[in-house]
Amino acid sequence: MSLKNTLEIDLIKASTSKIDTIDFENLAFGNVFTDHMLVCDFKEGAWQKPIIKPYEPFLIDPSAKVFHYGQAIFEGMKAYKDDQDAVWLFRPEENFKRFNKSAVRMAMPEVPENIFMDGLKTILDLDRNWVKKGIGNTLYIRPFMIAVGSGVIAQPSTQYRFMIILSPAKAYYSGEVKVIIAEHYSRAANGGIGAAKAAGNYSAQFYPTKLANEKGFQQIIWTDDATHTKLEEAGTMNVFFRINDTLLTAPTSERILDGVTRKSLIDLAKREGIDVEIRSVLVEEIVNAAKDGSLKEIFGAGTAAVVSPISAFSFKDVEYTLPKIEHSFALQLKEKLTYIQYKKAEDTFNWTVKV
Ligand code: COI
Repeated sequence: MSLKNTLEIDLIKASTSKIDTIDFENLAFGNVFTDHMLVCDFKEGAWQKPIIKPYEPFLIDPSAKVFHYGQAIFEGMKAYKDDQDAVWLFRPEENFKRFNKSAVRMAMPEVPENIFMDGLKTILDLDRNWVKKGIGNTLYIRPFMIAVGSGVIAQPSTQYRFMIILSPAKAYYSGEVKVIIAEHYSRAANGGIGAAKAAGNYSAQFYPTKLANEKGFQQIIWTDDATHTKLEEAGTMNVFFRINDTLLTAPTSERILDGVTRKSLIDLAKREGIDVEIRSVLVEEIVNAAKDGSLKEIFGAGTAAVVSPISAFSFKDVEYTLPKIEHSFALQLKEKLTYIQYKKAEDTFNWTVKV
């Protein structure tokens, strides 16, 4: 599959590129951006013509709703380069659909498919030198929308800005990931915005995560808000548990993000003949499995983090260390997934889209 471009986009090219000043071997996640950005405004009830221009700061009124009420959503996607220098996206239509689902939940206008997809293709074409070859090198894509209408009255804005920015990236987590199971704080509640990629879902995690960091843990495994007995997500990722040879993960719900990596790993695991159970995973069963040795692995899955093995978890101040095992499902599934993304293995699912 490949993306076709039908949309008219204004273009102002950067007069010089920053690319030679970037140390691609030592990238901290999300700190470096490419030469261009896409901007498309919504006003008077309509989306305007998009423009791609040099990456730069811009002015917004201090009373804009995004500052006061956090009316903001985003997506996380990646571009990959194969050995023949072709650039590929992974299941971009899933991100597009989820973006508009988030928009509806946050009372924002849906972005038309041609603005999202053609905009993406055009900016990626322009900045394609920023996608480096080799497994582990990616260009992280951040489409987002903010409410730019002015006025501090607490109601939805009438003006919005949709943008796409691009950041060369390697791993999101470097080093060990240890997690605390949440006993008090919650990431999301039924009827809330947990299933949307709303900016506030992430900032609401900062304080509990800071407390976890102070105790030596990198992330939190979020539990259901009502009873704190069911395991739902890990930090910014969906989460999988392996008990003996069965892989467990929670079903998506109003509280859980429908992760693209999550659903791809489920399909890959099933194809590999791994027994997968999509059902509520209880804190109690994971603690008991850790005690009797049947808990073999826990790993997070997300676009930024890909597949991130968790080395230990803490519950009620007791730390449980995961065993070091030989045939890790996490590593096996990560390899299968990345080989498809970098076009090193046949894409039998038709997930990859050429830019
Ligand atoms: C992603 O995996 O793309 C996410 O959205 C997580 C983000 C907070 C880095």
